[in-house]
Amino acid sequence: VCNPPAGADVKWYDPKVSPNIFEAMKETWLDNAKLQTLMTSFRENIERGLKKDTHPTSIVKCFPTYVQDLPDGTEKGKFLALDLGGTNFRVLLVELDVGKCDMKSKIFAIPADIMVGPGVDLFDHIASCLAEFVKEDDVVDQILPLGFTFSFPLMQKGLCVGILERWTKGFNCDGVIGEDVVKLLNEAIQRRDDVKIDVCAVLNDTTGTLMSCAWKNKNCRIGLIVGTGNNACYVETQQNAEMFDEPDMGSGKVIINLEMGAFGDDGALDCIRTDIDKSLDEDSVNAGRQLHEKMISGMYLGELVRLYMVKFTKDGLMFEGKLSDALQERDKFTCTYLSEIEADQPGKYIRQREILNEMGLSYASEQDCINIRYICECISRRSAHLIAAAMVTLINKMGETNVTIGVDGSVYKYHPHFRRLMIQKMTELIKPGFTFDVMLSEDGSGRGAALVAAVAAKKKPA
Ligand code: GLC
Repeated sequence: VCNPPAGADVKWYDPKVSPNIFEAMKETWLDNAKLQTLMTSFRENIERGLKKDTHPTSIVKCFPTYVQDLPDGTEKGKFLALDLGGTNFRVLLVELDVGKCDMKSKIFAIPADIMVGPGVDLFDHIASCLAEFVKEDDVVDQILPLGFTFSFPLMQKGLCVGILERWTKGFNCDGVIGEDVVKLLNEAIQRRDDVKIDVCAVLNDTTGTLMSCAWKNKNCRIGLIVGTGNNACYVETQQNAEMFDEPDMGSGKVIINLEMGAFGDDGALDCIRTDIDKSLDEDSVNAGRQLHEKMISGMYLGELVRLYMVKFTKDGLMFEGKLSDALQERDKFTCTYLSEIEADQPGKYIRQREILNEMGLSYASEQDCINIRYICECISRRSAHLIAAAMVTLINKMGETNVTIGVDGSVYKYHPHFRRLMIQKMTELIKPGFTFDVMLSEDGSGRGAALVAAVAAKKKPA
């Protein structure tokens, strides 16, 4: 890829976009001055989350993870992992040997009514999937160490104690907030009484991502997820992590789960939020919360595009003013659509045409196609630029000149331009003399959980 010279006026959008739509979407453009303002505010939020006296009222929670040791590649044995909180729920059997990792996994659906039903049902469902898996894989008689990737805001009291602070990403089960999710899992397993497990660790997907990359790359200091949700963790000096109440365990470092999706919940993003952002939020199951995540992650990007399309149609600027039924249905336009539309060759609308048919919009004109692609581009660019600003803030905070970021998540993996947009913007924002690398995590939530369990099992007294 050949980068244009700095300052060159290269248009990333199609000049044939309708002028009204072009102008209206400018509210989603973030220039570097705006991003710098957000970076300052994000940094202040992190400081507040880390400090004991400001933590209780902080928005970006900065929870210590109790994962202190990064794996060193010598971990061995069989481990189980559970992964809840992304697009799917998965159970995994991971076999580690020096520098090697074999995995078997099975995906289970979480029915929509379980996502918002009683917590006991959710944990019974998880336990029953786990039981089915260990029976099929013939490991039912072994008590294997298990790492539980539970990708929601957890206030950890230890490596295997995690109190749920709030639900995010469409989950809203009763009776779990304020409870230890490992205890709830163990209770559900006891209720069944047909499998035995040893939960060694509960972790966030960002931590798993960091661990799985650190296993291969010693400079990895940040774990980032841009998937259904968005969040990151990073390596902080123990002295700064005032909420971490363990004695120094040797490394002097603590992995902090930022829970950065909540950034802006106190108004810090009001300067960039649009009416469409506000209307998406108002109709969500967690209104007023996770405002940063709602501008960034896969659960919301498609819906933002849909809301803009509806608005422009109502204004008579698209589809000759005619809405289809599907276009009026919440969440019908997915983030996968957005990725696919942007993957069409510029000027060609092959996949886009199919998508428009699926959306009941076969009457779209060529001009509509041009405009839709531009709306998608504005929304994904904004997301990538917000991530870039957050990553550079973390690198500045750590003060390390050569940091690797481990990344996972569907938006990062499947959007055709996200990685490039993020890296380009980071390069513009980063201080001179600092360099960074971005590496794809190979299944952080699964392999990472097994690695955390392995490191924990290594330390346990026999
Ligand atoms: C949400 C969760 C967070 C998770 C992220 C990515 O923001 O609150 O814990 O890491 O989604 O899955």
